[in-house]
Amino acid sequence: MDTPDILCEDVVRIFRGDGIEVQALQGLNLTVQPGEMTALIGASGSGKSTLLTILSGLDTPTAGTARVAGVDLSDLTRTARSAYQRDTVGFVWQQTPRNLLPYLTAAENVALPMTISGRKDRKLRVAELLELTGVGYCGDRTPAQLSGGEQQRVAIAVAIANSPRVILADEPTGELDEQTSADVLEAMRSVNEGLGTTTLIVTHDPAVSEHVKRTVQIRDGRCSTETLRRSGTADNGDHHLIAEEFAVIDRVGRLQLPQDFMRSLDIRDRVRLGLEDDHVRVAPATPDNAIPAVTTTKDTP
Ligand SMILES: Nc1ncnc2c1ncn2[C@@H]1O[C@H](COP(=O)(O)OP(=O)(O)OP(=O)(O)O)[C@@H](O)[C@H]1O
Ligand SMILES: [Mg+2]
Repeated sequence: MDTPDILCEDVVRIFRGDGIEVQALQGLNLTVQPGEMTALIGASGSGKSTLLTILSGLDTPTAGTARVAGVDLSDLTRTARSAYQRDTVGFVWQQTPRNLLPYLTAAENVALPMTISGRKDRKLRVAELLELTGVGYCGDRTPAQLSGGEQQRVAIAVAIANSPRVILADEPTGELDEQTSADVLEAMRSVNEGLGTTTLIVTHDPAVSEHVKRTVQIRDGRCSTETLRRSGTADNGDHHLIAEEFAVIDRVGRLQLPQDFMRSLDIRDRVRLGLEDDHVRVAPATPDNAIPAVTTTKDTP
């Protein structure tokens, strides 16, 4: 298997201040392979932005390892960090004004990262990138003359200007209506499919998560479940989408049980585990479902 483009191993991020400690990430594991497009979902406060901020090189983990395109993010010099943010990752933020400089046109915004990195074929590439994200007609306009969706599509073009291996987007459709969100998602998909850019997109929007092949759910600062989608063919020949949900299990065997499973079987504190032929049984620790214990008695002379 290829070296993953995003690799998080036991990533912990603790925020401390005013005597309060928040464990935003609590041993998070995530692997994203080159060219994959993955959606990251989870309740408010579950740690999604904390993770993206670390992956974008703006913050560092308290413990654990985070690597993007082979770059270890916990151990970067200032120069290496700038180079990483300029060439290896591109990001798109939720707040449209954060993505673009207001006094430059769309084309100038896209050209800027390439000017900084000294790229030659800027003019042609700006036009290509704006076409790819569906806003070829917006080149001469400033952000104030663009709709929210157009601004986000220009922001995607800016994010990929220096051909990063990975693009990170934190709720890029969070402030947009349904149709405009669909356009922005389509632009992300064109980039992923057309250029093979590895894509991680945080979203609250089921319309986004249902349209990517892989959705990872964060719960309490850890990846808990993962949904994989593929197209299948029914007996009558119809094509349809098959979505399968998996629990995520880490290298040492930890997994999170879905909360609705725990509620419906009143599971808490401890469970009984049993190894069956082809599965592991997890049962509430009530006396009536005790698994016969193997006891060894030692004969005393
Ligand atoms: N700089 C910070 N200082 C202190 N606590 C923080 C900081 N940044 C995030 N947190 C806390 O870490 C936890 C995770 O926050 P995070 O912003 O990653 O959540 P999120 O999943 O992005 O939520 P949302 O969907 O609302 O954007 C929250 O409890 C938040 O209050
Ligand atoms: Mg957030």
